[in-house]
Amino acid sequence: MIDYDALLDQCAVLLQDESATNDVLLTKICALLKKEVNHYDWVGFYFAEHATKTLHLKAFAGTPTDHTVIPFGKGICGQVAESNQTFLVEDVAAQDNYIACDLHVKSEIVVPLFVEKMNVGQIDIDSNTINAFSPKDAAFLEELNALIAHTLF
Ligand code: SME
Repeated sequence: MIDYDALLDQCAVLLQDESATNDVLLTKICALLKKEVNHYDWVGFYFAEHATKTLHLKAFAGTPTDHTVIPFGKGICGQVAESNQTFLVEDVAAQDNYIACDLHVKSEIVVPLFVEKMNVGQIDIDSNTINAFSPKDAAFLEELNALIAHTLF
């Protein structure tokens, strides 16, 4: 059983380090989540550039991806940039609008990050297990993004 409350507390402590840049702190969050949750195989944060309608990878833990810039509307991430809603994908093979970063990935969750009600980015998590994510992951990641928005932005 994963203690999501304890994990959120660990993230809160980590985010208190005022000497670190936002990119460093977000990279530490990615590493922590990947280490602590077995079904999180790749964890990353993309942030939106609204002028060009693109998402840019700012921090990650896991295998490096070629997809560091994603247009709004493309893939699961690009769809969340437009829908403003958490997207839980049980089986990536069943998705038409999906960008494969790693052939081992079987399921994915993308949760938008809001700053003052504006969708500024997202956390994207890939799992090598099919149907790995539950509403508990969604609730945890929504709380985490709210904490990040409150603390860093
Ligand atoms: N699978 C994502 C692309 C990002 S990679 O998972 C790192 C998508 O379909 O948007």
